[in-house]
Amino acid sequence: QENKFQAIISHAKEYGFVFPSSEIYDGLSAVYDYGPNGCELKKNLRDYWWKSMTQLHENIVGVDAAIFMHPTTWKASGHVDNFSDPMIDNKDSQKRYRVDHLLEARADALREKGAEKEADALIAEMDRLLAAEDFVALKQLIADQQIVCAISGTGNWTDIRQFNLMFSTQLGSVAGEADTIYLRPETAQGIFVNFLNVQKTARMKIPFGIAQTGKAFRNEIVARQFIFRMREFEQMEMQFFIRPGTQKEWYNYWKETRLQWHLSLGIPAEKYRYHDHVKLAHYADAALDIEYEFPFGFKEVEGIHSRTDFDLKNHQEYSKKKQQYFDNDIDEATGKPYGNYIPYVIETSIGLDRMFLLILSQSYEEETLTKEDGTADSRVVMRIPAKIAPNKLAILPLVKKDGLPEIARELMNECKQHFKCFYEEKDAIGKRYRRQDAIGTPFCVTIDHQTKEDNTVTIRHRDSMLQERIPISKVKEIVQAAL
Ligand code: GAP
Repeated sequence: QENKFQAIISHAKEYGFVFPSSEIYDGLSAVYDYGPNGCELKKNLRDYWWKSMTQLHENIVGVDAAIFMHPTTWKASGHVDNFSDPMIDNKDSQKRYRVDHLLEARADALREKGAEKEADALIAEMDRLLAAEDFVALKQLIADQQIVCAISGTGNWTDIRQFNLMFSTQLGSVAGEADTIYLRPETAQGIFVNFLNVQKTARMKIPFGIAQTGKAFRNEIVARQFIFRMREFEQMEMQFFIRPGTQKEWYNYWKETRLQWHLSLGIPAEKYRYHDHVKLAHYADAALDIEYEFPFGFKEVEGIHSRTDFDLKNHQEYSKKKQQYFDNDIDEATGKPYGNYIPYVIETSIGLDRMFLLILSQSYEEETLTKEDGTADSRVVMRIPAKIAPNKLAILPLVKKDGLPEIARELMNECKQHFKCFYEEKDAIGKRYRRQDAIGTPFCVTIDHQTKEDNTVTIRHRDSMLQERIPISKVKEIVQAAL
């Protein structure tokens, strides 16, 4: 599995999905850039999420808030005081680690050795101690586990301390405490501070949601596993505003609805599981992760959080501006309107980059094949769901002459109005097919000499490699049907 993961990382670079940031200067830790195929895939994933939220739910609308926000936002949200992780330093290697990452790495190592039960027990104990903020016992647990030997060679640790994960910078030219602003560590606050602007201008009635996608920044101490944990990343978040007391019902609704979204991409259900939080974030009264089985084990890809009225209530307190909603629906219990209240919130929050890594992990396959003459062959195929694949169709004239490119160009001009196509006339056809397999193009169409006689082409299906002869006039329809 470790080999598979390394192969995915190399493949992502070689085929223009993901590059290390500023690579000519040896990169920047936990920061990445997306290449031509990567940015298409990322955009398609974002669009797929956006459509499911704002087009398929009539009661969800979008916002696009700025990354910079008034500094008081982060006091009110609790991030200045609470958005920190317990860290520990190794005195000999002088390296700093997040406590949970150290213990998770130890649990992963135990699993590799087949000690599943021990690993589960370790994680359960870690969760318990983190929830209790018992840093003395956590340090002891790290020592007992002799994690040190595996990671840094010694067992000489400092005490555990809390480190805030927010990046800060200065607004304007004068550096000073009052000018310190933060790069947002979550997009959610841009939604909360716009709650009434959106509710009033879009004339929304509770229950309703506000969706947003955009960059978030965290000074992650241990940044491991490629784009799984980054310092600059993109979130896709939705805050669903509800009547107090209905949070359980809506929490269950979004728990189920979000898993269905993942499954709608054709990913098998057994690759997913729920993980209920024991240690709750400072804003939540219930929370769970949707976990996916990455090549390095089951890990969080999305969070569903019941955030109560924590955020709006605090913004009301700090801003001195009412954050209330008037509900004129009749409460059956009293026979009167529900009246004024601060809404409760259920949040769904997914990392776009992490979802991207999920798609790479799920799609990548090294397939062994048998050639017609019986000899062995192989290919790397990215079985990316057609609706999010970077290119939907490759149009390939068999040779660069005899009028074939002209026919191919005509088909290209017709199809590219409707979905993303790729045109190529260089190299042997087998080689061109393999390149399309490697970037996940679901269909290739070859224009050959027979096309000139009967207006038919060969369409090749990426996953089965089956080829069929179809009228050129049907190509667009067939591809569109798969989307
Ligand atoms: N607004 C709630 C919130 O931010 P979170 O669990 O901290 O909750 C939500 O983050 C999602 O954002 C995670 O499930 C993950 O997919 C993604 N995410 C968080 N930190 C990340 C990082 N350092 N790199 C990449 N994705 C990250």
